[in-house]
Amino acid sequence: MRVDIEGYPTFEAEEGSTLLEACEAAGVPMDSACGGFAACNSCRITVLEGAEALGPVLEEETCFLDAPDQRLGCQIRLRAPLRCRLDPGC
Ligand code: FES
Repeated sequence: MRVDIEGYPTFEAEEGSTLLEACEAAGVPMDSACGGFAACNSCRITVLEGAEALGPVLEEETCFLDAPDQRLGCQIRLRAPLRCRLDPGC
C-alpha cells in the first residue's frame, strides 16, 4: 500500500494498518500525544488523494477536525494508496 506524505519519502505500508502505525514503522514523525486513542489531534492529517477508500469520518474524530478533508491518522486504516500532509492541531 503506497503512502505519500508531503515532505517525506513515499513508503509501502501494510494494508489494514492505521496510518499512525504505518508512519511509526516507516520513521515518519507523526505525533501521537494520546497514544492513538482519538483523544488529541496531534496525528491529524489533510488528505490530498485517496479519501474515498478511508471510509466515513468516525464519531470519535469529529471534534478534532476543522475541515472536511482532515482525518486522524490513528483512526484511519489503509485500504488503498494515500497521499496526505501532516496537519497536527495545537
Ligand atoms: S494520536 Fe491522539 S488522536 Fe490520534
